[in-house]
Amino acid sequence: MVVSNLRKIEIRKGTSRIILISSLFPNLVVKVPIVRLRVGVKTIFTERKRLHNKETWDEEVWWGIGWCLYKGILDNWREYRFYKNTKHQFLQPTFFSLLGLINFQKRGELIQCDYVKFWRCIHNATDRGAMSDSHHFSETRNFCLNSGVKILDYGSPRTQLIIKKFGVKIMEDLDLNFPELNRVT
Ligand SMILES: Nc1ncnc2c1ncn2[C@@H]1O[C@H](COP(=O)(O)OP(=O)(O)O)[C@@H](O)[C@H]1O
Ligand SMILES: [Mg+2]
Repeated sequence: MVVSNLRKIEIRKGTSRIILISSLFPNLVVKVPIVRLRVGVKTIFTERKRLHNKETWDEEVWWGIGWCLYKGILDNWREYRFYKNTKHQFLQPTFFSLLGLINFQKRGELIQCDYVKFWRCIHNATDRGAMSDSHHFSETRNFCLNSGVKILDYGSPRTQLIIKKFGVKIMEDLDLNFPELNRVT
Protein backbone atom coordinates (compact mmCIF):
# COMPACT_ATOMS: atom_id res chain seq x y z
CA MET A 1 0.00 0.00 0.00
CA VAL A 2 2.71 2.47 1.10
CA VAL A 3 4.93 1.36 -1.78
CA SER A 4 2.17 1.78 -4.35
CA ASN A 5 1.40 5.27 -2.97
CA LEU A 6 5.08 6.20 -3.08
CA ARG A 7 5.15 5.11 -6.70
CA LYS A 8 2.48 7.69 -7.40
CA ILE A 9 4.74 10.60 -6.64
CA GLU A 10 3.97 13.62 -8.75
CA ILE A 11 7.01 15.57 -9.90
CA ARG A 12 6.94 19.25 -10.82
CA LYS A 13 9.97 21.05 -12.15
CA GLY A 14 10.86 24.65 -11.31
CA THR A 15 13.87 26.64 -12.41
CA SER A 16 16.12 25.57 -9.54
CA ARG A 17 14.15 22.90 -7.68
CA ILE A 18 12.20 19.72 -8.23
CA ILE A 19 8.99 19.36 -6.26
CA LEU A 20 7.74 15.98 -5.10
CA ILE A 21 4.12 15.44 -4.13
CA SER A 22 2.83 12.17 -2.71
CA SER A 23 -0.72 11.20 -1.83
CA LEU A 24 0.78 9.66 1.34
CA PHE A 25 1.38 13.20 2.62
CA PRO A 26 -1.38 15.24 0.98
CA ASN A 27 -0.56 18.46 2.83
CA LEU A 28 3.15 18.54 2.10
CA VAL A 29 5.47 19.11 -0.80
CA VAL A 30 9.16 18.25 -0.78
CA LYS A 31 11.53 20.65 -2.54
CA VAL A 32 14.83 19.22 -3.74
CA PRO A 33 17.51 21.40 -5.35
CA ILE A 34 18.46 20.78 -8.96
CA VAL A 35 22.25 20.43 -9.23
CA ARG A 36 23.46 20.72 -12.81
CA LEU A 37 26.69 18.94 -12.02
CA ARG A 38 27.72 18.08 -15.58
CA VAL A 39 27.32 21.64 -16.91
CA GLY A 40 28.88 23.18 -13.76
CA VAL A 41 31.96 20.97 -13.83
CA LYS A 42 32.29 21.36 -17.59
CA THR A 43 32.22 25.17 -17.22
CA ILE A 44 34.89 25.09 -14.49
CA PHE A 45 37.00 22.90 -16.77
CA THR A 46 36.60 25.01 -19.91
CA GLU A 47 37.00 28.33 -18.09
CA ARG A 48 39.78 27.27 -15.72
CA LYS A 49 42.47 29.39 -17.40
CA ARG A 50 40.37 32.55 -17.21
CA LEU A 51 39.41 31.85 -13.60
CA HIS A 52 43.05 31.58 -12.53
CA ASN A 53 44.10 34.79 -14.18
CA LYS A 54 43.30 37.99 -12.27
CA GLU A 55 43.09 40.04 -15.46
CA THR A 56 40.54 37.79 -17.11
CA TRP A 57 38.74 36.84 -13.90
CA ASP A 58 35.10 37.15 -14.62
CA GLU A 59 32.40 37.38 -11.99
CA GLU A 60 29.80 36.34 -14.55
CA VAL A 61 31.51 32.99 -15.01
CA TRP A 62 31.51 32.31 -11.27
CA TRP A 63 27.90 33.35 -11.11
CA GLY A 64 27.09 30.88 -13.90
CA ILE A 65 28.94 28.07 -12.16
CA GLY A 66 27.13 28.85 -8.89
CA TRP A 67 23.82 28.88 -10.71
CA CYS A 68 24.47 25.35 -11.98
CA LEU A 69 25.78 23.92 -8.75
CA TYR A 70 24.08 25.51 -5.76
CA LYS A 71 21.27 27.91 -6.71
CA GLY A 72 18.60 25.39 -5.69
CA ILE A 73 20.24 24.81 -2.29
CA LEU A 74 20.50 28.56 -1.69
CA ASP A 75 16.90 29.15 -2.76
CA ASN A 76 15.68 26.42 -0.43
CA TRP A 77 17.67 27.76 2.50
CA ARG A 78 16.69 31.41 1.92
CA GLU A 79 13.05 30.43 1.50
CA TYR A 80 13.07 28.65 4.85
CA ARG A 81 14.93 31.47 6.67
CA PHE A 82 12.63 34.12 5.21
CA TYR A 83 9.52 32.29 6.35
CA LYS A 84 10.99 31.57 9.79
CA ASN A 85 12.10 35.18 10.32
CA THR A 86 9.06 37.01 8.98
CA LYS A 87 6.13 34.55 9.17
CA HIS A 88 4.63 36.89 6.56
CA GLN A 89 0.98 36.05 5.88
CA PHE A 90 1.54 36.13 2.11
CA LEU A 91 3.99 33.20 2.30
CA GLN A 92 3.04 29.58 1.83
CA PRO A 93 4.58 28.12 5.03
CA THR A 94 7.93 26.32 4.82
CA PHE A 95 8.13 23.98 7.82
CA PHE A 96 11.65 22.62 7.68
CA SER A 97 14.90 22.76 5.76
CA LEU A 98 17.92 20.53 6.05
CA LEU A 99 20.47 23.23 5.24
CA GLY A 100 18.74 23.77 1.91
CA LEU A 101 19.27 20.19 0.78
CA ILE A 102 15.62 19.34 1.27
CA ASN A 103 12.65 21.54 2.22
CA PHE A 104 9.16 20.69 3.40
CA GLN A 105 6.48 23.17 2.48
CA LYS A 106 2.73 23.19 2.92
CA ARG A 107 1.02 22.05 -0.24
CA GLY A 108 -1.30 24.48 -2.00
CA GLU A 109 -3.58 24.25 -4.98
CA LEU A 110 -2.09 26.16 -7.91
CA ILE A 111 -4.17 29.16 -8.89
CA GLN A 112 -6.04 29.21 -12.19
CA CYS A 113 -6.83 32.70 -13.33
CA ASP A 114 -6.34 35.16 -16.12
CA TYR A 115 -2.61 35.72 -16.43
CA VAL A 116 -2.80 39.28 -17.80
CA LYS A 117 -5.30 40.41 -15.18
CA PHE A 118 -3.19 38.80 -12.44
CA TRP A 119 0.02 40.53 -13.51
CA ARG A 120 -1.78 43.87 -13.91
CA CYS A 121 -3.14 43.56 -10.38
CA ILE A 122 0.34 42.89 -8.92
CA HIS A 123 1.87 45.60 -11.08
CA ASN A 124 -0.61 48.16 -9.71
CA ALA A 125 -0.46 46.92 -6.11
CA THR A 126 3.32 47.36 -6.04
CA ASP A 127 3.18 50.73 -7.75
CA ARG A 128 5.21 49.10 -10.56
CA GLY A 129 7.78 47.87 -8.01
CA ALA A 130 7.29 44.25 -9.13
CA MET A 131 8.81 45.19 -12.51
CA SER A 132 12.23 44.45 -10.99
CA ASP A 133 11.14 40.80 -10.64
CA SER A 134 8.51 40.70 -13.34
CA HIS A 135 9.23 37.15 -14.60
CA HIS A 136 8.64 35.84 -11.13
CA PHE A 137 5.53 37.80 -10.23
CA SER A 138 3.83 37.36 -13.59
CA GLU A 139 4.19 33.57 -13.38
CA THR A 140 0.94 32.30 -11.84
CA ARG A 141 2.64 28.92 -11.13
CA ASN A 142 4.48 30.67 -8.29
CA PHE A 143 1.22 31.25 -6.41
CA CYS A 144 -1.25 28.94 -4.75
CA LEU A 145 -4.45 28.88 -2.76
CA ASN A 146 -4.37 28.51 1.01
CA SER A 147 -7.00 30.71 2.64
CA GLY A 148 -6.50 33.22 -0.16
CA VAL A 149 -3.58 33.58 -2.58
CA LYS A 150 -0.09 32.82 -1.23
CA ILE A 151 3.31 32.91 -2.87
CA LEU A 152 5.08 29.53 -2.87
CA ASP A 153 8.41 30.45 -4.49
CA TYR A 154 10.18 33.12 -2.42
CA GLY A 155 13.84 32.14 -2.18
CA SER A 156 15.25 35.03 -4.17
CA PRO A 157 16.32 38.20 -2.27
CA ARG A 158 14.72 40.31 -5.01
CA THR A 159 11.38 38.58 -4.49
CA GLN A 160 11.72 38.90 -0.72
CA LEU A 161 12.31 42.63 -0.96
CA ILE A 162 9.06 43.08 -2.88
CA ILE A 163 7.15 40.89 -0.43
CA LYS A 164 8.46 42.90 2.55
CA LYS A 165 7.52 46.16 0.90
CA PHE A 166 4.25 45.28 -0.81
CA GLY A 167 3.16 41.83 0.42
CA VAL A 168 0.17 43.05 2.42
CA LYS A 169 -0.97 45.40 -0.34
CA ILE A 170 -0.68 42.62 -2.95
CA MET A 171 -2.86 40.37 -0.79
CA GLU A 172 -5.49 43.06 -0.32
CA ASP A 173 -5.62 43.84 -4.04
CA LEU A 174 -5.74 40.17 -5.04
CA ASP A 175 -8.64 39.65 -2.61
CA LEU A 176 -10.49 42.52 -4.23
CA ASN A 177 -9.79 41.58 -7.84
CA PHE A 178 -10.04 37.81 -7.54
CA PRO A 179 -12.86 37.08 -5.09
CA GLU A 180 -13.16 33.62 -6.70
CA LEU A 181 -9.65 32.77 -5.40
CA ASN A 182 -10.28 34.00 -1.90
CA ARG A 183 -11.26 30.68 -0.42
CA VAL A 184 -9.96 28.16 2.11
CA THR A 185 -8.46 25.01 0.54
N1 LIG B 1 3.73 24.38 -1.89
C1 LIG B 1 3.44 23.97 -3.13
N2 LIG B 1 2.20 23.43 -3.40
C2 LIG B 1 1.89 23.01 -4.65
N3 LIG B 1 2.73 23.09 -5.72
C3 LIG B 1 3.96 23.62 -5.51
C4 LIG B 1 4.38 24.08 -4.21
N4 LIG B 1 5.63 24.56 -4.30
C5 LIG B 1 5.98 24.43 -5.60
N5 LIG B 1 5.00 23.86 -6.33
C6 LIG B 1 5.01 23.59 -7.80
O1 LIG B 1 6.34 23.33 -8.22
C7 LIG B 1 6.80 24.33 -9.15
C8 LIG B 1 8.24 24.66 -8.86
O2 LIG B 1 8.38 25.13 -7.52
P1 LIG B 1 9.12 26.50 -7.17
O3 LIG B 1 9.07 26.68 -5.70
O4 LIG B 1 8.53 27.59 -8.01
O5 LIG B 1 10.60 26.16 -7.63
P2 LIG B 1 11.67 27.04 -8.44
O6 LIG B 1 12.22 28.03 -7.47
O7 LIG B 1 12.68 26.07 -8.89
O8 LIG B 1 10.92 27.70 -9.59
C9 LIG B 1 5.87 25.52 -8.95
O9 LIG B 1 5.78 26.29 -10.12
C10 LIG B 1 4.56 24.83 -8.60
O10 LIG B 1 3.93 24.37 -9.78
MG1 LIG C 1 9.17 28.97 -9.43
